[in-house]
Amino acid sequence: MDIAFNVTRKCNKGCDYCYLSLTGEELSFDKIREILESVDVETVTLTGGEPLMHPDIKELLSFLSQRGNHIHLLSNGILLTEDYLPAISEANAELFVTYNDSNKKISGNLHEANQRGIDVNLHHVLTERSVASLDDVCQNINFAKSLLLLYPTDLGQEIVNMYDPEKWFPLLDRAISITQLHGIKTYFEQAFAKKGLDLAKQQPCPTGKDLFIDANGMSYPCCLLVDKVQGNERLVPVRMNPKKCNFIRDNPLPDSSDYIRICPIVITDRYDGSFQFPSHLGEKK
Ligand SMILES: C[S@@+](CC[C@H](N)C(=O)[O-])C[C@H]1O[C@@H](n2cnc3c(N)ncnc32)[C@H](O)[C@@H]1O
Ligand code: SF4
Repeated sequence: MDIAFNVTRKCNKGCDYCYLSLTGEELSFDKIREILESVDVETVTLTGGEPLMHPDIKELLSFLSQRGNHIHLLSNGILLTEDYLPAISEANAELFVTYNDSNKKISGNLHEANQRGIDVNLHHVLTERSVASLDDVCQNINFAKSLLLLYPTDLGQEIVNMYDPEKWFPLLDRAISITQLHGIKTYFEQAFAKKGLDLAKQQPCPTGKDLFIDANGMSYPCCLLVDKVQGNERLVPVRMNPKKCNFIRDNPLPDSSDYIRICPIVITDRYDGSFQFPSHLGEKK
């Protein structure tokens, strides 16, 4: 089993598409330690908000590494500087950095991380606008171990334009043809399945397998549902029936569509077409 922590709901960026309510709440180091003492986990994902803004992030990285955990650190890349890179490198943490447009500062930080031997993976929230930068992004960060194309998801705030399948699949094709040119291992969020096919009948759902802990210390089915469903005080993976999932139920496609919506965060391997849960990507070498 793996575990992910929303260590903080603070962020220093404020992306216009962010699905998470940035309340400033923080999960204490003591609480994280207490949780980890009661479960048996391998990979620990630190996310947020911006996890590098957690006041005890360096101690936390060192603690996890001493426990022998593999660490996935999700970040917007702004704080990946001299101040934090040594702790990340010493903990042997793997980076997953959202990089949608070319940005000199973040690119410089990622180059520095790479030079220190840290594994850098990219997350790219794919839009018609961002695809224009994708060639630059790949050229610039050509050492990226993998790149994940994310489907822009709106959780009811009505701030994100969610693509219909007729727009999304051609956009994905365009993006994948670019990443392929650069030879970067690519994963994507497929977000839809054709009606009647096996995938539509047996929708993949990441819940029930791993633990997702929000900044309040409670467990939730997954990162998208932390503000949508009640937290569970028991530290057990929370299962969600995809047919009753709040996100899928609240965002149906018209009956006339050839597609149904599936969990937007289930990841497809560009090469073998298999489905993965985000925290298990590292297992695919
Ligand atoms: C909430 S962020 C936290 C980590 C870090 N601050 C970052 O931006 O990478 C976790 C992941 O969600 C992605 N994300 C945020 N809002 C999204 C949205 N509306 N649709 C799809 N992905 C989103 C980010 O790109 C990132 O990969
Ligand atoms: S950097 Fe991450 S947490 Fe911060 S606003 Fe952007 S997506 Fe949300």
